[in-house]
Amino acid sequence: MALRTLDSLGSLAGKRVIVRVDFNVPLKDGVITDDGRVRAALPTIDHLIGQGARVIACSHLGRPDGAPDPKYSLEPVAQRLSELLGKPVAFAGDTVGESAEQVVAALADGDVAVIENLRFNPGETAKDAGERRAFAEQLASLGDALVSDGFGVVHRKQASVYDLAELLPSAAGYLIEKEVEVLDRLTENPERPYAVVLGGSKVSDKLGVIEHLLPRADKILVGGGMLFTFLAALGHKVGKSLLEADQLETVKGYIATAQERGVELVLPVDAVMASGFAADADHVVAAADALEDTAFGAEGMGLDIGPKSAELFADAIRSSRTVFWNGPMGVFEMPAFAAGTRAVAQALTEVDGLSVVGGGDSAAAVRQLGFDDAAFGHISTGGGASLEFLEGKKLPGLEVLGWA
Ligand code: 3PG
Repeated sequence: MALRTLDSLGSLAGKRVIVRVDFNVPLKDGVITDDGRVRAALPTIDHLIGQGARVIACSHLGRPDGAPDPKYSLEPVAQRLSELLGKPVAFAGDTVGESAEQVVAALADGDVAVIENLRFNPGETAKDAGERRAFAEQLASLGDALVSDGFGVVHRKQASVYDLAELLPSAAGYLIEKEVEVLDRLTENPERPYAVVLGGSKVSDKLGVIEHLLPRADKILVGGGMLFTFLAALGHKVGKSLLEADQLETVKGYIATAQERGVELVLPVDAVMASGFAADADHVVAAADALEDTAFGAEGMGLDIGPKSAELFADAIRSSRTVFWNGPMGVFEMPAFAAGTRAVAQALTEVDGLSVVGGGDSAAAVRQLGFDDAAFGHISTGGGASLEFLEGKKLPGLEVLGWA
């Protein structure tokens, strides 16, 4: 079944429209370090302003424990939204209390407000359906309709994502519509060869997606911290690199399945070994089967894929027609260990076909490394959400909007 889209709500002029966005942006000392998710919400918000709706944007930020915590306030995000829209944005210091009600009551047609972090209220993430519903009912009283556009959070059955969409006339915003359209192309008949590039630190975070994609992808490339569990599964020593010993048998199973099914499992042939986890650590390149044969011996720690692997990965990516990438190849935040991630990002920009960057971390990585969003086919705003979509899981925040 198809998603209910914005036009299904009819004219929203003069209506109070709650827009559930994902403004869960990285912050450092109160400053937003990557505003990609705020920008991604603009097409829907601009459209609603243009229609003369009274826009009430709401989101979570981080994982506060169901109580106000200034560290997770959305106020800096409201300011950024105001700069990007080029107009004032009112801010309510609570989610459903007096301040929220007053701010909403003061909105004129075409005005925008942001209400405080939804997760400051325990009802937002409550496991108990009744508690969640009670919070959703309070939220619903603030608006006449809901536009759900926080793709990054559609895998969470939370009050504003799920229950609220049942209580108010609701539809997907432009961001969710676009994310679903692109990610669906990856699950239904992707143009081949189809390569999936996985990085990040933990294999255990990627089990579902590896299992689901093994029979679907033509090539699976593994980098990031999780590569060392793969190399260990091949019998290589990995020094002090990240290793999930409890996943070794599972990973051996993946290697065997890939062979049986003729899926090309591309593993690094070399890695950058460092004396420790620090930006200025000494480091050398070592072959994948000789990671402990460096001056650091068994104390060495792998922090990036090596240059030969970067070339191998870049070739595998460029020769594919569809590529999905999730997770950095190394500790890209430290310039000495960013080359692998940069090479993969560069190769994605050269794909003759559809290239998709999935996940908050990978999206932040490409921007931090100086790539332009437009160089990629699509940058998904969803980390867990895009992976779960590709795993073929049912996502509550999409199902409630009619997607099946
Ligand atoms: C994300 O950053 O992936 C989304 O904003 C969801 O956040 P959560 O994992 O805290 O639910």
